[in-house]
Amino acid sequence: MNKDQFIKKIVCIGAGYVGGPTMAVIANKCPDYKVTVVDISRKRIEAWNSSQLPIYEPGLRDRVEKARGKNLFFSTDIDAEIAAADIIFVSVNTPIKTFGEGAGKAVDLQFIEQTAQRIKKNSSSPKIVIEKSTLPVRSADTLDTILHSGKNSVRFEILSNPEFMAEGTAIRDMEEPDRVLIGSHETPSGHAARDELVKIYSRWVPEQKIITTNLWSSELSKLVANAFLAQRISSINSISALCEATEADVTEVARAVGCDSRIGKKFLNAGIGFGGSCFRKDILNLVYLCEYYKLDDIAQFWQAVILINDNQMDRFVSRILKTMFRTLVDKKIAVFGFAFKPDTGDTRNAPAIYICKRLLEEKAHLSITDPHALPNAKKDLDGIDEGVKYIEDPYEAVKGAHALVLLTEWSEYCGLDFQKIYDNMKKPAFIFDGRNHLNHRKLFEIGFNVYPVGKPSLTHI
Ligand code: NAD
Ligand code: UGA
Repeated sequence: MNKDQFIKKIVCIGAGYVGGPTMAVIANKCPDYKVTVVDISRKRIEAWNSSQLPIYEPGLRDRVEKARGKNLFFSTDIDAEIAAADIIFVSVNTPIKTFGEGAGKAVDLQFIEQTAQRIKKNSSSPKIVIEKSTLPVRSADTLDTILHSGKNSVRFEILSNPEFMAEGTAIRDMEEPDRVLIGSHETPSGHAARDELVKIYSRWVPEQKIITTNLWSSELSKLVANAFLAQRISSINSISALCEATEADVTEVARAVGCDSRIGKKFLNAGIGFGGSCFRKDILNLVYLCEYYKLDDIAQFWQAVILINDNQMDRFVSRILKTMFRTLVDKKIAVFGFAFKPDTGDTRNAPAIYICKRLLEEKAHLSITDPHALPNAKKDLDGIDEGVKYIEDPYEAVKGAHALVLLTEWSEYCGLDFQKIYDNMKKPAFIFDGRNHLNHRKLFEIGFNVYPVGKPSLTHI
């Protein structure tokens, strides 16, 4: 399509895990829209324009290659792209504050404010500005105030369109979403802007899956969805502790409970706890909101979800220590998996970071293997990784190890030759399966002492 024939120009500010994939999908589904993703990071934009994309996500490369240079562009020329845009998605990071008031809880809104100021400065035509980032409730008020302040008389309409995709399945989640949520002001101009966005999504999302609400419901729903998902994980993990004490099996309990259609089967896998860039930060954000509105008992309820998650990682490390005769000094531990979940190289808030730090404090030597996350693992453990080796080949990583600790359930780990692994390990050989991923009975029969999460251990000692 000729450049001038595009019916609308979309710009996405923030070329990260959300901005890149969402825009690749929109560009593929709407070839008559020009989609440009911009970022302050030149390195990230260069990577999006190369064959080495900055993030690993199944199906992403194919979508990017199909549209890049046709109607999908990656650029650092933020000001010019803003000026030309009709529709602007804001997809910058919204981390937790590490300083000042609300440190450790409130969202650090500096990137959002910088973005809003930049949009205002570079706009001379009306625009729809869409919150794609996850934000505290009533953030649209802040955006509205910044964008409409001063002398500039340009009109902006704010929408909230939170993203529900999960890493590793981002493309599928975006192409076949459970729902798309769009919040708008309940005004004629708000509804007109909302309809513009509905028009884009309805190219591939069935109408009944596009939910429209007011702005505040949309902003809050995103936080609540993540809080409910994380709460299910903490619930089953709390039960895994009880299972270990009583010899019940958490997988059996989860199955029995999840078969109730009111409860449902998903997100009931016990393990070492949830990681990732969002669950923790979004619950902290919810807790902060509750405290701000003086809803202290509700804040405590949600805080407990994080507490259980932290305890789960601690329990896992304590179990390793206790099992291995209460000392890890100079013992070699092979860590299988560092990413916060499989099919991603992302290690943000990965339980592996905390668990490896704890094992290093006990003076263990670690050899870490992961199919995609080793570069990030090196950054995460930088400065404390004297006793750490990063090894791509799992067979090499486990040579001479006293224990294998599985922290990410990469599918390839199930296909490994565990007899060969056993033969190359020190005896007694221990496996701590932090994701209940492997065939425990088979491992036990080979000779391993096997410690799953929330299930009776299978041991020869
Ligand atoms: P990210 O850190 O991967 O990407 C954010 C990008 O924004 C970075 O590349 C950064 O350089 C850029 N940026 C920051 N300030 C900028 C500015 N002023 N101008 C231009 N670019 C700027 O973050 P992410 O994982 O993509 O998350 C983005 C938002 O989406 C967050 O609010 C997050 O909570 C939410 N979210 C994330 C996921 C996920 O799976 N990662 C899923 C749903 C929602
Ligand atoms: C999560 C949500 O699933 C997305 O809907 C949301 O858009 C996203 O957060 C976000 O806002 O960032 P993500 O963090 O990418 O997606 O991945 P999940 O599949 O939710 O897994 C999160 C963590 O929970 C992982 O560490 C995973 O191992 C753990 N988990 C998940 C369990 O321990 N047990 C389970 O049963 C499921």
